[in-house]
Amino acid sequence: MSDLCVVLCVALPDEYHPAALERGLRRRLDRPTLDRIDRLRQPVDRLRSMLGRLLLRHGLRLRGLDDGAGVTIGHYGKPRLVDGTAEFNLSHAGRWVVCAISRTAVGVDVEQVRPFDLVLAQRFFHRRECAALAVQPAAARHDYFFRLWTAKEAYMKALGLGFQRDMASFSVAPRADLHVALDDPQMSPQPYVLSHLELDPGYRLALCHHGEPVTVLLVTIEHLLSPTIIH
Ligand SMILES: CC(C)(COP(=O)(O)OP(=O)(O)OC[C@H]1O[C@@H](n2cnc3c(N)ncnc32)[C@H](O)[C@@H]1OP(=O)(O)O)[C@@H](O)C(=O)NCCC(=O)NCCS
Repeated sequence: MSDLCVVLCVALPDEYHPAALERGLRRRLDRPTLDRIDRLRQPVDRLRSMLGRLLLRHGLRLRGLDDGAGVTIGHYGKPRLVDGTAEFNLSHAGRWVVCAISRTAVGVDVEQVRPFDLVLAQRFFHRRECAALAVQPAAARHDYFFRLWTAKEAYMKALGLGFQRDMASFSVAPRADLHVALDDPQMSPQPYVLSHLELDPGYRLALCHHGEPVTVLLVTIEHLLSPTIIH
């Protein structure tokens, strides 16, 4: 597999019939995957989770890998390919579902920028991040909060720890050029590179990987559902 990090993104349409879409997606997934997804109560959560798995399969196929490779749930819930041919990570929020595939460990996080109780930042964030948030113009503060949040979560997901990692134990500093500086006293030398990717004005998307060149692919649901497409 090439040293490329591929980030596949698919959006739920503005209007759709959840039950009809779910029926279509279910036909493309295997029983163990569906059993896990069926534990999700909300139809939209099931749809996003199904789209994540289909994006993964599509991405593996594009990379010339076995798209039927099984997925196992590892430590702290991180899904991994059983055959270990690639690393991947999934994230979903609002209308977007994102899947990053790489040769080495990778993490992604997408979040919809929305009003948020910024007092929560004091509970979760490093003091340097709280200070940087406090000096943002009021109109930009929610967006900055989600730039911090997605960068931190993408890193914690690349590590495979998710929220098991204390969010205040390391700090990130998003820059105007979309690169994010990362300071983790527990990781030296730091092998990870953090950055934001442009996706949708209402969302923030962060990627944490080992610095391979990145390609972003927008995929349609029709493409994932089409039985006639040769992927
Ligand atoms: C991973 C985690 C940060 C996701 O948070 P979120 O903002 O709700 O969700 P996102 O949409 O960004 O990501 C969800 C995806 O992350 C992946 N994921 C789950 N656990 C993960 C982990 N530990 N590390 C990296 N990725 C993980 C999954 O693919 C999941 O999607 P899926 O369930 O549809 O396959 C959070 O669930 C977490 O901290 N989990 C670990 C907690 C834990 O210790 N669980 C023990 C269970 S064994």
